[in-house]
Amino acid sequence: MNNFTFYIPTRFIFGKDEENNVGKYVKAEGGTKVLIHYGGGSAVRSGLLDRVKASLEAEGIGHVELGGVQPNPKSSLVYKGIELCRREGVDFILAVGGGSTIDSAKGIAAGVVYDGDFWDFYQGKWIEKSLPVATILTIAAAGSEGNGDTVVTKEVEGGNLKRDAHGDAIRPKFTILNPALTQTVPPYQTASGITDIMAHLFERYFTNTPEVGTSDRLIEALLMSIIDEAPCVMADPDNYDARANIMWAGMLAHNDTAGVDREQDWSSHNIEHELSALYDCTHGAGLAVVFPAWMKYVYKHDVNRFVQLATRVWKCELNEENPEETALAGIAALQAFWKSIGMPSTIAEVGGKEEDIDYMAHTACWGDVRTGSFGCFVELHEEDVKAIYRLAL
Ligand code: NZQ
Ligand code: ZN
Repeated sequence: MNNFTFYIPTRFIFGKDEENNVGKYVKAEGGTKVLIHYGGGSAVRSGLLDRVKASLEAEGIGHVELGGVQPNPKSSLVYKGIELCRREGVDFILAVGGGSTIDSAKGIAAGVVYDGDFWDFYQGKWIEKSLPVATILTIAAAGSEGNGDTVVTKEVEGGNLKRDAHGDAIRPKFTILNPALTQTVPPYQTASGITDIMAHLFERYFTNTPEVGTSDRLIEALLMSIIDEAPCVMADPDNYDARANIMWAGMLAHNDTAGVDREQDWSSHNIEHELSALYDCTHGAGLAVVFPAWMKYVYKHDVNRFVQLATRVWKCELNEENPEETALAGIAALQAFWKSIGMPSTIAEVGGKEEDIDYMAHTACWGDVRTGSFGCFVELHEEDVKAIYRLAL
């Protein structure tokens, strides 16, 4: 197991109706003028935004709002948010929505107190300082509600750049998790979120760090819980308890509790981000396409780890004569599971084209701050990335 220091300053407030207390929590954090940041309108239609404003007003907290965050959030709105916060003297950012809204909010929060261009952070600069951020989560997926990460897309000519930035300064001060708020998430988005949560666990599971049995078991437990709960949520979107279990698993999957002790891979996320940047598919759908292809490409690097996953999580029978067959059975079980909740398995299904593969592989490996290769479990270069996209055709 590796050495680590682990810091999680976020207060998690979980349960029904907790969003109505948001004013109290903002006040406790010292916020006096809040930017309420939200997405394309689901928070308006559900009445959530009105309840948030009423709660802030009841505590005498001023607010301005900025909606319109699109899935795969764009840098143009972050610039607008930074300007608005400076003009209005905002001292606290409240994201009401999913990963896209939270990531956009984090970009704004870091940008307001920074002298340069906020995009510097998405080019590798660590975020040291930020306005305080808090979240009311409305979809279980990205895990941004519990971590110090943000992913934003910059619109550039000839193709978009989807890049991430990091720092403890943008970890939310608090996160309100009311599973009932996720009951209105449409089925495809629900399935995309479930897929993303599982992908966050796989990125950690496939490691070369030895002797990490505790976090292996944590990851496996979270995966098994999701595999149990996902069909319930898909069959009955109003199933509060299944939504609750998925929501909590989503946070645990990506706040690093289950991965801080090990080297992590993250190739599939890098490969996927090119798909959602170019075709604007959901991040989860892109992962459902990429991850099994990556697994088929790299499994021989450590067949035993794939066998462990297949037997413990997917309950595949161990073929002692031919463990590779067991490893492949585990990958097939994953693909079948994602298909069963309505996720795609080919690039064509997310609107992609074979002729874009060279461009995507090149940008993934060499675009702006990239240095030609990535991945820790197996290091991948441009030709490998092309081969993985081809396996997903
Ligand atoms: O915009 P609105 O109208 O709110 O609609 C959203 C959006 O269309 C809708 N939605 C959310 N809550 C809803 C709802 N519809 C009805 N009822 C509700 N309660 O769902 C759609 C998707 O929302 P989005 O925020 O894009 O989803 P998600 O949470 O999956 O976030 C995806 C983004 O997060 C990034 C992804 O790359 C992508 O850009 N990620 C962020 C990470 C992080 N910061 O740690 C890690 C992830 O790996 C990921 O890369
Ligand atoms: Zn993800």
